Amino acid sequence: MERIRITGGRVLTGKIRPAAAKNSVLPLLAASLLCAKPCVLRGVPRLSDVDASLALLRAVGANPVRRGPDILLPPAAVTGRVPPELAGAMRGSVFYLAPLLVRAGTVEMPLPGGCRLGPRPIDIHLAGLGAMGAEITEEEGAVRLSCPGGLKGTEFVLRLPSVGATLTLLMAAACARGITVLRGAACEPEIADTAAFLRMAGAEIEGAGTPVITVRGSDGPLPGGGVHLPLPDRIAAATYAAAAAVAGGRVTVEQCRPGHLASFLRFLRTAGCEVSAGPDSFTVVRDPETPLWGGIRLCTGAWPGFATDTAPLAAAVLLQAGGESRIHDALFQNRFACADGFAAMGAKVHADGRDLHIWGGARLHGAAVNAPDLRGGAALVLAGLAARGTTIVADPGHIRRGYQDLAADLKTLGAHCASLKTISDATRKTVGAMQMR
Ligand code: EPZ
Repeated sequence: MERIRITGGRVLTGKIRPAAAKNSVLPLLAASLLCAKPCVLRGVPRLSDVDASLALLRAVGANPVRRGPDILLPPAAVTGRVPPELAGAMRGSVFYLAPLLVRAGTVEMPLPGGCRLGPRPIDIHLAGLGAMGAEITEEEGAVRLSCPGGLKGTEFVLRLPSVGATLTLLMAAACARGITVLRGAACEPEIADTAAFLRMAGAEIEGAGTPVITVRGSDGPLPGGGVHLPLPDRIAAATYAAAAAVAGGRVTVEQCRPGHLASFLRFLRTAGCEVSAGPDSFTVVRDPETPLWGGIRLCTGAWPGFATDTAPLAAAVLLQAGGESRIHDALFQNRFACADGFAAMGAKVHADGRDLHIWGGARLHGAAVNAPDLRGGAALVLAGLAARGTTIVADPGHIRRGYQDLAADLKTLGAHCASLKTISDATRKTVGAMQMR
C-alpha cells in the first residue's frame, strides 16, 4: 500500500511537462508486435500499466528492453496465449487481441473484468474482429479467437465510438487482406497517434482521428518499424492544470498539446481561472483569494467532448467553488467513487450513479481517504492541496497506473506533498514473524 501525504494551503508556482500518454503507450506497445523491424518508443514513463505491458510482451515471446526513458522493441516470434494473471492485471491487455491474432493466428485471454468504473465489455472489439473473419469462442470467462488464414478487410460500423475497439480494429485492419472501412470510429488523439506509428511501419491508413477510417491492409505483419515519440499525456496535463485551480497560483504546463484538453481548459476559465495557451504550452493562474465560480453543469462524452478521465479532476476544482454543480459521466457507471473521499474532507457531495452533485463553498479539512481508482485517486490528492491540515491518500496501486510519481510532480510546483511507500501487509506479517523468533 502506498500513502500520499499532502499538507494543504500551499500556493503552486512553476513549470512542468507531462510524460508520454499512458493511453497512447499501451496500444503502441501492443502494435509493435505487428512490425517486422525493430521499434523504439521514446520517453515512456515508468507506470505500473507499462510494466504490466512489458511483462505481457515477454510472456508471449517478445523481448522489450527499457533503456532509460526509451523502450526498445525488437521483432520476435510470439504465441497467442496470454497468461490469465497478466491479462487480468489491466484493461490495456485487450490491445493484444488483434496483434496476437495477426502474428500467431490464434489468441486466448480472459475476458477483461469489470473495474471500479463499471462493466468493461469488449463486444465491439469482438464483433469487428469477427467481421474480419476471426472465429470467436467464449467459455468460462475467457475468449479464444482464431484466424489461421489471416484477417480480411471489411466495412464495419462501431455501435459506439469505443476508443479501445477503434484501436483494436485499426491494428487488425492494418494487417488484413484488402480494404477496411471503420465507421463510427473514436476520434481521441490517441487513435491518430497509433495510426501514425502504424503508418511509420508501412500501414496505409486514412481518416484516423475522424469517424471514418479507411485502411489498405498489408496481408500480414507490417514491413517496417521505427522510432516513435508518443503524444504527451493530456490527462496528466489536465491534472496539473486542475492542481493550479485547486491550490491557487501560477502553473505552466510545457511540451504538451493544449488543443488536446481544450474542453478542460474551457471549464477552468468558466470556473474563474485565467488560462492562456500557446501551440505547445499553457498557463493557469488563479488568485487564491479569489473564489472559484460553481453552478456549472458538465457532461462527459467522446472526443472532442469533455473527457471522462478529467471528470474527477473537475470535481476536485468545484468542491470549493460557490453554487451547486453537477457532473454526468455518460461513459462509465461508477466514475465518482472518489465522492466518499471528498465527503470525508468536508465537501458537500452526493454521487448518484453516473452523476456527481456538488454543493460548493466547502472549507475542506485533512482526512485519511482511499484512492478508489486511477483518476479518482488523483482527484483526492488534488483536493488535499486545498484542505486545511494533512490528508493521507491510501493507494493500493491505482495512481501509479497513470502517473510515474504524482506526489513528486506536485512537489516540484511547491506543494507540501510526499509519497510514503509503506511496507505491504504481507511484509509486515513476515517482519512480525521474524521478530517473534
Ligand atoms: C479507454 O478505455 C481508456 N483506457 C480510458 O482511460 C478512457 O476513460 C476511455 O478510453 C474513454 O476515453 C485506455 O486507453 C487503456 P471505451 P476504453 O472503449 O477503451 C463501452 C484511464 O483512466 N464499450 O472508449 O475501455 C465501455 O463500457 C482509463 O486512463 C462497450 O460497450 O474505453 C464504456 O462505457 C479509464 N463495448 C464506453 O464504451 C466495447 O466493446 C467507452 O469505452 C468497448 C467499450
